[in-house]
Amino acid sequence: MKQLHKLSTTTHHRRDEESPTILTAHQPYSPKAQKHPYSRSLPRSLSYLLTEQRLLFIIVGILIGSTFFILQPTLSRLAPPDPDRRRPSSSSYVPTSVSYWNRESVSSPYRSWGGSGRVPAGVGRKRSRIVVTGGAGFVGSHLVDKLLRRGDDVIVIDNFFTGRKENVMHHFGDPRFELVRHDVVEPILLEVDQIYHLACPASPVHYKYNPVKTIISLMDYKTNVMGTLNMLGLAKRIGAKFLLTSTSEVYGDPLEHPQKETYWGHVNPIGVRSCYDEGKRTAETLTMDYHRGAGVEVRIARIFNTYGPRMCLDDGRVVSNFVAQAIRKQPLTVYGDGQQTRSFQYVADLVDGLMALMEGEHVGPFNLGNPGEFTMLELAEVVKETIDSSATIEFKPNTADDPHKRKPDISKAKELLNWEPKVPLRDGLPLMVADFRNRILNEDEGKGNK
Ligand SMILES: NC(=O)c1ccc[n+]([C@@H]2O[C@H](COP(=O)([O-])OP(=O)(O)OC[C@H]3O[C@@H](n4cnc5c(N)ncnc54)[C@H](O)[C@@H]3O)[C@@H](O)[C@H]2O)c1
Repeated sequence: MKQLHKLSTTTHHRRDEESPTILTAHQPYSPKAQKHPYSRSLPRSLSYLLTEQRLLFIIVGILIGSTFFILQPTLSRLAPPDPDRRRPSSSSYVPTSVSYWNRESVSSPYRSWGGSGRVPAGVGRKRSRIVVTGGAGFVGSHLVDKLLRRGDDVIVIDNFFTGRKENVMHHFGDPRFELVRHDVVEPILLEVDQIYHLACPASPVHYKYNPVKTIISLMDYKTNVMGTLNMLGLAKRIGAKFLLTSTSEVYGDPLEHPQKETYWGHVNPIGVRSCYDEGKRTAETLTMDYHRGAGVEVRIARIFNTYGPRMCLDDGRVVSNFVAQAIRKQPLTVYGDGQQTRSFQYVADLVDGLMALMEGEHVGPFNLGNPGEFTMLELAEVVKETIDSSATIEFKPNTADDPHKRKPDISKAKELLNWEPKVPLRDGLPLMVADFRNRILNEDEGKGNK
């Protein structure tokens, strides 16, 4: 019995482990040395956690693992850039100076967030799937470059009417880039988050070449779903954000100067330029109707004259005309008296503005342009200073409906998108000249490059 009692006492004491010492009648009482509370409770808690709290350990393990996988891409982005990744594949892309041409190439602990401020790397934004229609064109290809640099997946849709594969071929082989030969007048179904709709023959030479096709690619007079309508339909079906690249041409030959977004314009609806001007005005109307009627999240940019590398060499736009003529040692053609004014925006600034608009909360329309205003003769002088001071000027009769003045009021974009252009004409022009020289040289060597 005594033994049984002793055993039960022992068992009891072992279970709660208060005191492994068993007092027996013949043992004199001696007070125990006071143990430090931690030295007693630590092994007990550890064994408790190890035996009873396995689930807790598993959860903590999963949390540590997921934190590592979330941070890993960000950490790798902070690593020095792979120079090969950014080196253009064709010699025609090589700029002669470090530049606004590819400003984001510089390694930075910050990544650009649409130009509307800086977001520290690691502050999460989801990688988006983005369609750029007209992405093989001049503006589109620069936009594609920047979206890919930001880490998004990009699908370019282009029918190569004025665009060129060479503009995007440095992305061939990048798994985040796809190029689809497709005419936007035909519907297409894709799963994306955002649509930048740029597809449109945008220069006078091209849109006058086939005016009916131009307006068809922007809108649908015959109830068929085409161009802008197709892309808006796609945006509605898949719940994507849609951005329209409209134009300062919606202001026509303006009676208000500089032009604010509230100005409704002064367009000749039956002139030679109207296929473009009215087409874009209708595209804006369709965009707003899809927004109001179908709840599509839309953005409208009104782009003013933009220049930069990869512009078509002979597209009839004044900057590319002057630059190509000066390089080819031809006289610079000035139409009319040369007193008409325009403002010229470098393409990197425009791309920043488009992305700020897409990522922002405001529908627009927003003027995106450089408010610096130049007469055609002043522009010719800057081109001469930059390329060939001995170049001559040749005057020709002005084209119909040529606007007398163009200058954006960009206060709305400054305030709501926190955007404004940074590259002055005298800095931007040389970057374009380097690209034009290469292409004209290739052309002369018979490689052909429009
Ligand atoms: N560059 C400017 O100064 C300027 C000014 C105002 C507005 N914009 C607008 O910006 C956008 C881009 O202009 P850009 O200067 O890059 O012109 P761009 O001609 O270089 O590019 C247009 C692209 O759209 C493609 N395209 C044309 N029709 C198409 C169709 N039906 N289907 C598929 N692809 C088609 C062309 O092949 C080309 O790659 C255009 O919408 C234009 O109206 C440009």
